[in-house]
Amino acid sequence: MKRKPSAWIAVLLVVAMAFAGCTKKGTDPTPTPTPTEEITPAVTEEPTPTPDPKSEWDDKFLKDRYAGKFKIGVALSASIIRNETLMEVVKKEFNSFTFGNEMKPDSLLNQRATLDGYPDTYTEPVLQFVSIENGLNFARDNGFGVRGHTLCWYSQTPSWFFTEDYKTGSPLVSREVMLARLESYIRQVMEFCQTNYPGLIYAWDVCNEGVDKLTGDENAIRKKGNLWYSTIGPDFMEYAFAYARKYSDGTAKLYYNDYNCFDKQKEILAALKPIQEAGNIDGIGMQCHLSTGDNIKSRVYGVAKNFAQNGYLVEITELDIAVSGGAYDDTMQSMKYKLLFQYIEQAKLDGEVDIDSVTIWGLSDFDSWKRADKPVLFTTVVGGLQRKPAWYGAMQDPSIDAFEW
Ligand code: GLA
Repeated sequence: MKRKPSAWIAVLLVVAMAFAGCTKKGTDPTPTPTPTEEITPAVTEEPTPTPDPKSEWDDKFLKDRYAGKFKIGVALSASIIRNETLMEVVKKEFNSFTFGNEMKPDSLLNQRATLDGYPDTYTEPVLQFVSIENGLNFARDNGFGVRGHTLCWYSQTPSWFFTEDYKTGSPLVSREVMLARLESYIRQVMEFCQTNYPGLIYAWDVCNEGVDKLTGDENAIRKKGNLWYSTIGPDFMEYAFAYARKYSDGTAKLYYNDYNCFDKQKEILAALKPIQEAGNIDGIGMQCHLSTGDNIKSRVYGVAKNFAQNGYLVEITELDIAVSGGAYDDTMQSMKYKLLFQYIEQAKLDGEVDIDSVTIWGLSDFDSWKRADKPVLFTTVVGGLQRKPAWYGAMQDPSIDAFEW
């Protein structure tokens, strides 16, 4: 049968379309899968995020955990105080701080100005407060309390302060002159803080590390390398506390602060007895530079109880727990932090120990004086800080099974 021309055109079009389709498919031998309901969501859906087991902790912070019981403090350097990113963490986690170095005599004593004013400065050294103003402003503006650390210490106090003409290597001054310098120093530091930042300092470490069984005198008063002892004599701490009481406006408690208290509790109590009897001391600061091998119950709780039973307030002033470098370090460290906070909190609740602050000696392992031993609660990561297992220990995370033997 003869077809009409229009019919032939239609046939040709169909063949041409079929051919075109074949050649296109021919470039991609894989058949396009027909989308099914099962496949489509798997391709287009976002991967389900792995739930962070700790996310429930994100809005929990140390200072809130212990609110109403005791302040949670941290040692800070001037450079951390200038770092806004780090200070955001500090503001959330802590409500007290201690200057790591900036408030020590070698930061506050101004040798140049003292020499310039000599001999009028003979018993009135010149001080400068630039190293602490920034931090004290931060504390005032953010509701922080500050531990005043430290007024009278054998270390980080320049040797020129003890000499006749305020020059290193010159002869030491007499007991009377050094007592006058000690009184002047304590008065100036306390007056500066009380006048410019009333009520901000809640504890003064009037004397630091004045007892030493190995290098001390027959009563274990630190003697070797201690220019306070060389100039004033064994009763230098009694004078330091008397001056601190004299110039205190009463808003801060007066503390004696020391390390290894577990090892020298008897000697510390004996050394402080006359000071306590004179009514010039309120508490004992236990530094607590510990390691994961230490027994918390005997080294911290037992000692704190002993001091409290002898009439002292107690603060944990420089807490860090060094790890020894083993496989279970993180776990051990978090257990020890948990035990320490458990004991301290319970002792406070039971009225056994009147403790009003626990201070961690460093914000992150990176800025700790024992950096290699990773002793504190945070580690430094790109862009800020990360909580370590130790932090969860300090929070008494119930999933941490803390025990010691
Ligand atoms: C002692 C002092 C602190 C600090 C540490 C080391 O414990 O009391 O001020 O110097 O040593 O960082």
